[in-house]
Amino acid sequence: MQRDEQKLREHYSQPPEDISLDEIDLDRIPKHISIIMDGNGRWAQARGRARSEGHVAGVESLREAVTTSVRLGVDVLSAYAFSTENWRRPKEEVNLLMHLFAKTLIKELPLFHQENVRLQFLGDIESLPKKTYDVFCRGLEETKDYDEMTFALAVNYGSRAEIVRAARMAAIEVAAGRLSPEQLDEDAIARRLYTSNLPDPELLIRTSGELRLSNYLLWQLAYTEFYVTDVLWPDFTKWDYLRAIRAFQGRARRFGGVVKQ
Ligand code: FPP
Repeated sequence: MQRDEQKLREHYSQPPEDISLDEIDLDRIPKHISIIMDGNGRWAQARGRARSEGHVAGVESLREAVTTSVRLGVDVLSAYAFSTENWRRPKEEVNLLMHLFAKTLIKELPLFHQENVRLQFLGDIESLPKKTYDVFCRGLEETKDYDEMTFALAVNYGSRAEIVRAARMAAIEVAAGRLSPEQLDEDAIARRLYTSNLPDPELLIRTSGELRLSNYLLWQLAYTEFYVTDVLWPDFTKWDYLRAIRAFQGRARRFGGVVKQ
């Protein structure tokens, strides 16, 4: 929200050859940026290491993405950490991720306090292991009044399940006579999604080159600009983030209409 230009310049000092902060229009930073963090496993495998080490390295990239988003004045950063389909992974990997979520949140809470960042979760977090759930609740409680930026982490999230959940909630209201079928419009569904309080993402970044949505924010991404990079998530830096924003700013967003002259 509030941007500290001096801190931003310091954050982006010593640019590489192909990108610098001067190429970015700071008045047109996307308000909501969303990231599908992909490629942790491949990153680790390429180094002959366990997949878990890729996830640990991925945490560092996420930390930098949070700080960078605050510096740039992004209102909402969201990221896909664990899908409803990810339960199918080997038990050890799932356990590691659940442990990592809890451990990282505890470790990074001071950053949220320092940067005035509010935490939010997208997904069914009540079904997570108790320890992880308890830590998530603590994070929610401790950051609920912060307003510099919202960091929304999708955990145990699936977009189709989210839409079904919203439809079911609305159906219950209709059955109870509190909502008429005519009132059941796009807004009525949007208000019942996990993202009800957030603007739709303007930019979606996906790392590691996959051209899929993977059941992520299907409703919310209707008009979002996509940016896919081959960079694997643990290698994704603040400069890659800037490259994504530069690409976004180079596009004409039409929302189904024509480009304004
Ligand atoms: C995708 O890589 C990444 C995940 C499924 C987990 C995302 C988790 C993190 C970035 C770290 C944890 C975050 C927090 C908030 C503590 P992949 O395993 O699908 O990689 P692959 O496609 O190369 O196998």
